[in-house]
Amino acid sequence: MTAIDIALLSPESFAHGQPHDQFAWLRANDPVHWHDEPDGSGFWAVTRYRDVKAIGRDAATFSSIPSIMIPDGEGGLEVGDHKMLITTDPPHHTGLRKLVATEFIPKAAKAMRPRIESLAKRIIDDVIDKGECDLVEDIAGLMPSYVIADMLGIPHEDGVALYRLTETIHAAPESVAQGAALGAVLEMFNYARGVWEQKRAEPADDLATLIAQASIDGHELDLIDFNLFFLLLIDAGGDTTRNLVAGGMDALFGHPKQLAWLAEDLDGRMGSAVEELLRWISPVVYMRRTATRDTELDGVTIAAGQKVVMYYGSANRDPEVFGATGDELDLARSPNDHVAFGGGGPHFCVGAHIARVEIHSILRELLTRLVDVQPAGPTEWLPSTFISGPKHLPIRFGR
Ligand code: HEM
Repeated sequence: MTAIDIALLSPESFAHGQPHDQFAWLRANDPVHWHDEPDGSGFWAVTRYRDVKAIGRDAATFSSIPSIMIPDGEGGLEVGDHKMLITTDPPHHTGLRKLVATEFIPKAAKAMRPRIESLAKRIIDDVIDKGECDLVEDIAGLMPSYVIADMLGIPHEDGVALYRLTETIHAAPESVAQGAALGAVLEMFNYARGVWEQKRAEPADDLATLIAQASIDGHELDLIDFNLFFLLLIDAGGDTTRNLVAGGMDALFGHPKQLAWLAEDLDGRMGSAVEELLRWISPVVYMRRTATRDTELDGVTIAAGQKVVMYYGSANRDPEVFGATGDELDLARSPNDHVAFGGGGPHFCVGAHIARVEIHSILRELLTRLVDVQPAGPTEWLPSTFISGPKHLPIRFGR
């Protein structure tokens, strides 16, 4: 018996952002909570910060195979023994990650800053005369699509089109035609095959060439390995970054004093503000692991084979770490050791440094150039149990 309905698989629970009332109850009363799953075996919902960190850091006990999402199914896709970076474990994971890691280190992100700033300028140039637009579609979503297209060495328009495919892949099954998600994956793979062929025939200085020509322990990566990497890279940085920017602006609109404080010294205060918005929004709702052996968490016995789900948005409000002000937006918060990019284990977000540069650049450009920017209608949230953020946020502004 619970004093509150716990429904973490219900899109309704996420229709206005994350269900912080459910999370608070779980953290206080049942931090390792058994949650039923209508079409599956059920899972442990883990809501405390220290448990989330412990699971993410222990890949030997908590495996990313077969999936980091709650359902086991792969949408009918046959990829044999091939594994995506995010759904494999060390040592296989270590080899794949090493392959791309240098393209994402802080030095690489720093080198990309001027380019990312010019993209931010272009995005705002394209809307500034309109006086109004959808912050999600017309501003926040474009930035990650352009950046990953640049990194992979493909045209920006293709980055935007591929990103739309990922939206179909993640859409709630009832909101798209039957088979649409699989169709979108196949379309993505078809496009990726073209890139693979082109980059092998005419190598360039980009991430797609690097993966297309790679070997691990003497084994060349094949087309399926390439396709899975390509899909992950298009996917992982897209709606996460978009939702942080749009959700972040929604939060700022709702906290005008905080927005005014930030605007007083944008450059000096943006660093801590971005970290707080990451904590506040936590665009990735959860990552799942699967127990490889019987184990115990907070006194609860977890059996080998059971699903264990880390709720980042909950960990990011845990009073044990963020004190009594965890439920308040404080753009000056310090320290702010949030887990929006993961709890620090082997899968910790490889794109974190680049994401920060993107978020910083676009928010700075937006807040400097869109005069008196304000909402022009209600924010509509994505009814997703996996990725949190606005679906539409109409805004108006002067110049
Ligand atoms: C606000 C933006 C972002 C958020 C909140 C976010 C969050 C996350 C989280 C929570 C994970 C899993 C961590 C774990 O399991 O320990 C992850 C993994 C990953 N992210 Fe991000 N991410 C963001 C942006 C990006 C960007 C811009 C890129 C690429 C350009 C990216 C690429 C990846 C990849 C490839 C992985 C898998 C890493 C692995 O399995 O080793 N992410 N991200």
